Amino acid sequence: MQEQIEKIKAEVEAFDLNGSEAHAEAYRLKFLVRKGVIATLFDELKSVPKEEKGSVGKMLNDLKRFAEQKLESAKAATSNAPAEESLIDLTLTGRRQFLGAEHPVQKVLSDMKRIFYGMGFTLRSGPEIELDDYNFTKLNFPAGHPARDMQDTFFIRKSESGKGESGKDDVVLRTHTSPVQVRTMLSEKPPIRVICPGKVYRNEAVSARSYCVFHQIEGLYVDTGVTFADLKATIYSFAKQMFGSEVKLRFRPSYFPFTEPSAETDVSCYICGGKGCKVCKQSGWLEILGCGMVHPNVLRNCGIDPEIYSGYAFGMGVERTAMLRYGVDDIRVFFENDVRMLSQFE
Ligand code: PHE
Repeated sequence: MQEQIEKIKAEVEAFDLNGSEAHAEAYRLKFLVRKGVIATLFDELKSVPKEEKGSVGKMLNDLKRFAEQKLESAKAATSNAPAEESLIDLTLTGRRQFLGAEHPVQKVLSDMKRIFYGMGFTLRSGPEIELDDYNFTKLNFPAGHPARDMQDTFFIRKSESGKGESGKDDVVLRTHTSPVQVRTMLSEKPPIRVICPGKVYRNEAVSARSYCVFHQIEGLYVDTGVTFADLKATIYSFAKQMFGSEVKLRFRPSYFPFTEPSAETDVSCYICGGKGCKVCKQSGWLEILGCGMVHPNVLRNCGIDPEIYSGYAFGMGVERTAMLRYGVDDIRVFFENDVRMLSQFE
């Protein structure tokens, strides 16, 4: 009897449960059920001589407990590692990782910034919700001046008088980046050489060519003895790096309340090389920016003495260049953020 018990114990030990339920069930049926091997041994206990019953009975009980524990711990192990085999299919192809990429407008803006950094300009920024005073008045657009209508404005707070109720200033969504010039001149002393990129807002009819929000980059240089020649040289250097060393420039007289004299700058069309094409409407030229010498009134409004200092400023749109560079013919796609469009710029 003892021998038999040892033999069964060896069998129990050797039985490979292998973490699978089928193996566990076969094991249970063999050793642990009513008619299983161990129960049968218990039946045979009757025929064991009296004096041995105690020790054989203990051996049997130990065997039973040992067999049960083996099954328990095998079950615990399987439930801790749930269905590893069935859920993970190592033969499946991997899931594609979607990588973000710079938005085309930001790409163009980055290029512009990089060129100006190379010329010693540093970055300034200002709020998109701006005081009327900084967006207009200090830039030499007096209250009621018709030039205010040049830029269709979204008002956040507006009063009849131009001075809001309780005497507070009107508040607008900035219509251009020029108020950052004002903020910079009010808080810093010349020499000032900064660029100010950012979003601007205009209350215009939305179309393929214009949208209610777009990006501008502003430049400002104030020091002693700054002349229009400095302005031209800076714009020239920028345009050659941005659009190609072959481009020609043209400065047309223009008007901005905050610069005098003022100009609009065209580059020779870098699509057709100036011969005339659909993009430049056969003119051979593309308008890229507005610029001029900072108006003495603006310097004075910002606490800088125009008898000592002079400066130039320029401002340009970013989307238009992005449209030309990437052949996008509707400005609105830049703001819809459709991944099918954006993923082309990865
Ligand atoms: N702020 C002007 C605009 O939005 C552009 C500009 C900037 C013109 C600086 C001259 C100097 O139209």
